[in-house]
Amino acid sequence: MKVTIVGAGNVGASCADVISYRGIASEVVLLDIKEGFAEGKAMDIMQCSSNTGFNTVVTGVTNDYSKTANSDVVVITSGIPRKPGMTREELIGINAGIVKSVAENVLKHSPDTILVVVSNPMDTMTYLALKSLGMDKKKIIGMGGALDSSRFKYFLAKALDKPINDISAMVIGGHGDTTMIPLTRLASYNGIPVSEFLSESELSEVASSTMVGGATLTKLLGTSAWYAPGASVAYLVDSILNNQRKMIACSVMLDDEYGQNDICIGVPCIIGRNGIEEIVKIELNEQEKQKFAESAEAVRNMNADLKSHL
Ligand code: LAC
Repeated sequence: MKVTIVGAGNVGASCADVISYRGIASEVVLLDIKEGFAEGKAMDIMQCSSNTGFNTVVTGVTNDYSKTANSDVVVITSGIPRKPGMTREELIGINAGIVKSVAENVLKHSPDTILVVVSNPMDTMTYLALKSLGMDKKKIIGMGGALDSSRFKYFLAKALDKPINDISAMVIGGHGDTTMIPLTRLASYNGIPVSEFLSESELSEVASSTMVGGATLTKLLGTSAWYAPGASVAYLVDSILNNQRKMIACSVMLDDEYGQNDICIGVPCIIGRNGIEEIVKIELNEQEKQKFAESAEAVRNMNADLKSHL
């Protein structure tokens, strides 16, 4: 199985590292526009293989899309990342042009591929790719919810002082500091609702930390995070390539699900070999419905800025 990752920056390289280390694909191509950069990252990753024992072949190329031909999955991480104080939304003008041209180039060589969009603002970039490429909507997946859910589980595990792998939780809505919706009502510790162990104010603190999870790291690091974003993409790619049919919150085109149309936003999906195998419909309570509608409104407003790119 072949995976191409466009953008060999922190997120792209970290994703290639996890995919190869865990043997998720047999071949990974890293592509970047900066001369020699992807080649260097690929070589560095390959020099881990005798120590960590993986067999994936990772290669790097400078802007040569012919080397990405016949990829089963293409991950787009291209674009500029956030600087401290910036929102993901502020990246729209620059990243829209980049994402569109990358997606077009990728499809020329891998017309049947499944696209995973990581570039920010992620919901809007997923929408842009879908609208401008005219691809089957099952094959374009925005990864934000996978990352936000992993941050949610991290903050829940910390508040509960319990192992993270005993926690089950999900974040839906937009991948933005004010638009994401951590579903605290449905989060559980080994099947027991977390509300049995955490007070309302503790739960609300967990939700707030989750929502600004990316911004907190951007402030600490001076640029946006990469280990968890890279690992979240790898988790998603694993579910696609190995047809695991995991339920993962992803940004996908809605067609009446959750009361929305013509928008890509995070909802629970079954992810398998065909991409989005199913959108899982769960019954939200009134407050969650209201938050979802507000989140969709904010994402839709952002999509309006795409006009010149569509
Ligand atoms: C983050 C960026 C990758 O949330 O969106 O860290």
